[in-house]
Amino acid sequence: VFLLRSSASAEVVNHVRRLSTTSTKNVKVAVCGASGGIGQPLALLLKQSPLVTKLSLYDIVHTPGVAADLSHIDSPAVTSGHNGPENLKDALSGMDVVIIPAGVPRKPGMTRDDLFNTNASIVRDLAEACAKYCPKALIGIISNPVNSTVPIASEVLKKAGTYDKRRIFGVTTLDVVRSNAFIAEAKKLDPRKVNVPVIGGHAGITIIPVISQATPSVSFEKNQLEALTLRIQDAGTEVVKAKAGSGSATLSMAYAGARFAFSLCKAINGESNVVECAYIASDITESPYFATPIKLGKDGVADNLGLGKLSSYEQDLVQAAIPELQKSIKKGEDFVNKSS
Ligand code: NAD
Ligand code: LMR
Repeated sequence: VFLLRSSASAEVVNHVRRLSTTSTKNVKVAVCGASGGIGQPLALLLKQSPLVTKLSLYDIVHTPGVAADLSHIDSPAVTSGHNGPENLKDALSGMDVVIIPAGVPRKPGMTRDDLFNTNASIVRDLAEACAKYCPKALIGIISNPVNSTVPIASEVLKKAGTYDKRRIFGVTTLDVVRSNAFIAEAKKLDPRKVNVPVIGGHAGITIIPVISQATPSVSFEKNQLEALTLRIQDAGTEVVKAKAGSGSATLSMAYAGARFAFSLCKAINGESNVVECAYIASDITESPYFATPIKLGKDGVADNLGLGKLSSYEQDLVQAAIPELQKSIKKGEDFVNKSS
């Protein structure tokens, strides 16, 4: 009996020690656009994770219902819903992470840039609110066109005097998730064990899967490599066509957005070696924003891991992407700086 008691109490002591030596921080996460096709499943995935202790749901419609529904789930995240711009202060104050899937999605025949006219001002206004109410938050932008919306948000934060280039990300995780899925399928691998970095941006030819750096290492005939690359670049359009007018990728995006948000939470909690690809302010190429693998830390970007060694095919893809990225970036910057 004595032995049993002492080993049980030793276990409790160890458990308490473990708790007191880990510096787990409460991470408060907001989703802006939380009632939408991405927002709702993303909020569900965030709600079920113990990494999130507060979940704040903002949209211009329906958030009280979404929040009431999610709040009945028996997980720790305290969930609140906030509708309309007059409630942005309550939605965003004190947030550590803000994920933005607000805005309209594509219909068949549209490019992501065709969404600019509607989504640019939505992202601008949300970035203004972040500058005001949570200037230290890490911000992940899902709203398209990502190649322009990240520069838009950055210019807004610069004007507000709260810009920190380490804290703002275009979420390109879906491109990585898709690359992993398609390559696992082609090579009959377990998709959970495949990792393909994707660099560049998030539209057509700016999406550059770096298959030469995939783990595990894979090789393809030239034709197959080109077909696979094209499928990854056009994967968003594949979903838009299949949905036939009812929107674009929502469920896979929610999965990818949650993965990215969890990585930010882990980095905030001091976990080391958290690496994700994301579209960030960058001096790695001649494009002022460029997605590469990034080591994340508590303040966002801790280390840009750069391009690594590219095949000559991938180098050509980078060269082709740069002018398009520069154009989309300028369009975003001009939207903020020339309209005021
Ligand atoms: P959706 O129309 O289903 O949802 C968008 C939500 O945004 C709606 O609930 C709407 O009320 C809300 N909204 C509109 N204006 C708002 C504002 N000012 N403030 C807060 N919320 C606002 O669209 P969706 O399918 O969820 O897609 C959202 C965006 O994500 C689109 O721009 C789409 O192109 C983009 N997207 C990006 C990726 C990526 O990989 N980065 C992947 C998929 C979709
Ligand atoms: C995607 O890649 O699925 C998104 O950018 C949505 C779209 O319009 O393709």
